[in-house]
Amino acid sequence: MNIQIFANKEEASQQAFILIKEALDQNKLNFGMMTGESPKLFYQMLRESDLDFTQANSINLDEFYGLGEEDEHSYHYYMEKHLFKFKQFNQTFIPNGKNYNLIDEIDRYEQILADYPRDIQMLGIGVNGHIGFNEPGESFNSTTHLTRLAETTIGTYQNYFKGLERPPEYAYSMGIKSIMDADQIILLAFGAHKAKAVRDMIEGPVTRKVPASILQNHPNTVILLDREASRLLNS
Ligand code: F6R
Repeated sequence: MNIQIFANKEEASQQAFILIKEALDQNKLNFGMMTGESPKLFYQMLRESDLDFTQANSINLDEFYGLGEEDEHSYHYYMEKHLFKFKQFNQTFIPNGKNYNLIDEIDRYEQILADYPRDIQMLGIGVNGHIGFNEPGESFNSTTHLTRLAETTIGTYQNYFKGLERPPEYAYSMGIKSIMDADQIILLAFGAHKAKAVRDMIEGPVTRKVPASILQNHPNTVILLDREASRLLNS
């Protein structure tokens, strides 16, 4: 793991931006994208830049089950708002939360992952160590699946879900194996509330209890942290 600690999230996001710019310069075109708080500055930097994504493809990690693109709580909506409205991509893919036929949706997404092998997979980390919505206990061999959100996750997403009559209990998510298949992984974690998960991911044993700990076994993972998120690290 290549661990880089920055004074603040602006500098860490800037580094993520540089890595994506270098990838584009090298003609890498398939980017696994994520959502949430962590990439907001990074997306701002992308959309305010002159980077050209018209030949690139974006393949998102996950989507809430039951939420369609018109719903402002969906990750479709999030990606439009933060990136796609401003930057044209060749193709963009996100699991379809409105497809209630699980086999059909999972097969569709697995085919997309096979057709567009990711050069880079962007990741955040949950306070419980989840990556994508692979919650503690998830098999390291998992591929795209419907996952039940952990209580902790529903708790931390409370603000995000505000306004929904019933917060989603499930999400479609790339599996851990799907994530590990990417050539390079770039994980962003900011803030003191992430410090324990970050320590467990980097310095703890590789265990299903901390899904992100599997990244220790990935040959090309870059972890970009602000100072608070790194504060429990020993070295
Ligand atoms: C988002 C995702 C999640 C988040 C994680 C951290 O697509 O898959 O794993 O990356 O929950 O979320 P934030 O950045 O909001 O703290």
